[in-house]
Amino acid sequence: MSYIILGCIFLVSVIIYDQLNYKWKKRDLVGRKYKIPIVGDFFNKSEKTLKNYVDMWNKGVMTCNMILHKFIIIPRETKTVRDVFARYRDFKPTGPVIMDKVLGADNFVFSQGEIHLKFCRFLKQLLNNDAIQKYTNIQQKIYDKYLNLWSMSNKPLIMTDMIKNMAIEATIAVLCGKEDLDKKSISELSEDFFILVKSFDLVNLPLNIPGTNLYKSIQARNRILNKLRVYINDAKNDIDNITSSTSSHIGVDKYKSLIHDWIILENNDFTDKEIEYTLLTLILASQDASASSLVWTLQILADNQNVVDDLKIYGDNFLHSVVKEILRYRPPITMMPYEATHDTKLDNIPIDKGTIVIGSIYPPLQDSNVYSEPDVFKPDRFISPTVDQNNSYLVFGHGTHICIGRYLAQLSLANFIKVILKNYHLHHHITENSQIVDIVTGATYPRDGCILTITKNTKN
Ligand code: HEM
Repeated sequence: MSYIILGCIFLVSVIIYDQLNYKWKKRDLVGRKYKIPIVGDFFNKSEKTLKNYVDMWNKGVMTCNMILHKFIIIPRETKTVRDVFARYRDFKPTGPVIMDKVLGADNFVFSQGEIHLKFCRFLKQLLNNDAIQKYTNIQQKIYDKYLNLWSMSNKPLIMTDMIKNMAIEATIAVLCGKEDLDKKSISELSEDFFILVKSFDLVNLPLNIPGTNLYKSIQARNRILNKLRVYINDAKNDIDNITSSTSSHIGVDKYKSLIHDWIILENNDFTDKEIEYTLLTLILASQDASASSLVWTLQILADNQNVVDDLKIYGDNFLHSVVKEILRYRPPITMMPYEATHDTKLDNIPIDKGTIVIGSIYPPLQDSNVYSEPDVFKPDRFISPTVDQNNSYLVFGHGTHICIGRYLAQLSLANFIKVILKNYHLHHHITENSQIVDIVTGATYPRDGCILTITKNTKN
């Protein structure tokens, strides 16, 4: 009996402490008056819809929440959000506990300062606007292959799942030089990357035993790494077999992928393990965001025939504006979690070490002071963007961790659009869920999966 009483006293004390801790951290911020005991908003699955986040952002310029013991601060204003991204000494990117166990705690994306700089400087040369232009042909070839396949079915198709295979095939071709991968490898890679992203829930058991998410994702990671190792060795052999001048540099077509360029450029600065894990990280970071942007591109083009007509008339400058507006109107990533590395302040609000601070990407993209009628798709706004528009354009983040693949992501969309314009007509079967934006494994998708009938232009 006395054990039960002691147990109850302990539980009540924990709940009181938990509540006081929340109140203390919350101070005057907008948020729940009382925390749901112990678990906080952990079971609140409504978070998966963008609208729920929008409701939260609308409540105040700085709101707060708590999941289990993690206190979360959610700023909304562009200037504050840019601060979170830019103040790398105060805030670092963070993710689910198991993420560093899968990707390696020493992975460059978790690093700060010199180590991070070393990787970024190197990767920048491989992914800058000049270096990536040579991928245009292979991307267009792969996009055309899939669109053609879909057009042959002659019936409405749900695009979301199918597009993931196309995205992975294009990514592997560009990053690893593997063109014409067999169907089995593509779907194995696609499934394994899906296991990885799916397992990155905010809270997970950090135990590597059969049945846990960590176990499943380590198995998936190992299968992916085994494949990447083969691709890297094949690239090394390709380069050994090139007998002509060795003075070539990146951008030259014969080095057909990022990994080929890497091998040519690198001076033993990176270990094999670092190369494999970096490649894994690049594909992982690109996969879902790219798939999401491709799906939205299909849906938006199908819904805006006037833009399709304009694209046929105006040149690459307008195409670039369309790509930018697609990513603003339906950004694949709507927020990035950062963590305070020490006690600090944000807009004069005290932030304790370990607090999660959300880099809110979506609200700055919807700021009506910067983008008139933000909920309307208007590519013209980016023909000559203002300084404010550039500052609010946080689609790819900002600061030292800004997306390293941003040029490639935009080139991919431009190439996808070019192929559609040349050969295909898109008919969107609009449902009541077409404009509901769900957040699935971190990226945005239309709730109905985007149902399209794709037909081939008869003129060609
Ligand atoms: C439309 C497609 C994409 C979107 C919307 C997107 C968005 C983002 C965002 C918001 C971040 C966080 C930036 C920050 O914290 O400041 C990020 C980081 C990153 N992205 Fe992308 N991304 C896309 C495609 C890609 C591609 C194609 C690649 C690789 C080829 C890539 C590789 C990365 C990497 C490695 C990081 C982490 C960078 C670091 O921590 O230093 N992303 N991306």
